[in-house]
Amino acid sequence: MGLHVITHVLIIIASFSISTAKILDRCSTSNQDCGGLDSGLYCFSCVTDDSKCVRSSATNQFKLVNDSLPFNKYGFLTTHNAFAIDHEPSRTRIPRITPKNQEDSITDQLKNGVRGLMLDVYDFKDDIWLCHSFGGHCHDITAFEPLVDTLKEIEAFLSSNPSEIVTIILEDYVDTPNGLTNLFRDTGLMKYWFPVASMPKNGEDWPLVSDMVAKNQRLIVFTSVESKEKSEGIAYQWNYMVENQYGDDGMDAGKCFNREESSVLSDTRKSLVLVNYFRSIPIKPLACIQNSDGLFNMLQTCHDAAANRWANFVAVDYYKRSNGGGTFRATDLLNGELLCNCNDVHACVSGSTVACNS
Ligand SMILES: *[C@@H]1O[C@H](CO)[C@@H](O)[C@H](O)[C@H]1NC(C)=O
Repeated sequence: MGLHVITHVLIIIASFSISTAKILDRCSTSNQDCGGLDSGLYCFSCVTDDSKCVRSSATNQFKLVNDSLPFNKYGFLTTHNAFAIDHEPSRTRIPRITPKNQEDSITDQLKNGVRGLMLDVYDFKDDIWLCHSFGGHCHDITAFEPLVDTLKEIEAFLSSNPSEIVTIILEDYVDTPNGLTNLFRDTGLMKYWFPVASMPKNGEDWPLVSDMVAKNQRLIVFTSVESKEKSEGIAYQWNYMVENQYGDDGMDAGKCFNREESSVLSDTRKSLVLVNYFRSIPIKPLACIQNSDGLFNMLQTCHDAAANRWANFVAVDYYKRSNGGGTFRATDLLNGELLCNCNDVHACVSGSTVACNS
């Protein structure tokens, strides 16, 4: 290598370190100002603020710490109505008149570290669609896309990320017998299926993540229909998980109580805990405020209500909107508490510069 080339390399290295953007740095409008695609930051303006570099992806707790603990010892960022994506073209060719809850594709959500997807599924047009409802039915104006397309995106992610686990939580209005099972099979997802028989029934720990990865049992699916656990082998969510109230009633500071379908949060016979924190009607410009202190406080409130258990899933709208750390910081909090009793997972690593503040 000639001197010229070496100098050139050194200049590139130097310019990288000089341009490393930090969280809350001012930016113009370009994500490049925040260090580009792989920096974990992007340029965003919360309501009327100046644009700042804010987080755009979750910490991978398996890579940062390890994956040798039971599945229920980790926290996962979860998108509420993951399919209700703003600016997605209409698939029915009829303009959509229905709330949106997210703004990037399922593929991008997964790429950015989302590991729980809440999906509402309906019989529609001789197929199964992702949809919002009026009275339990999907309509042209509330339909998003056929479920098969989303399942293909999930399959592609699991296939190219062999150490990752994805949880799907279905609000299930599908009556077609084996309708869901057929789609899971047709999209190649059965090879990742985590069997109901291996799910703890009485408050025991889940299998180790490392074992789930070794066995390739990396897709967990829950349904809201009790009978499908027997008929199709899809786990009935409320046998395994407690969940707080969703919507506006679930955002009342200092209060955390179960939604109707769930056992009380303190029921430790269910090994998983899910915290919802989003409005009944999503208001996009306010999402960056709600994905902030109110959310962090609610995680603590729900921890206390859930017999001192930190949530495994934190379900939010517009997950990338924040005034700094947002939902990614919330997930770091959960993993920190779950893995090493610190309020940030970065403090769990020996030699870390992040202090353990708990
Ligand atoms: C994995 O991390 C946890 C939490 O820090 C720790 O208790 C455990 O010993 C680690 N396991 C291995 C095999 O390193």
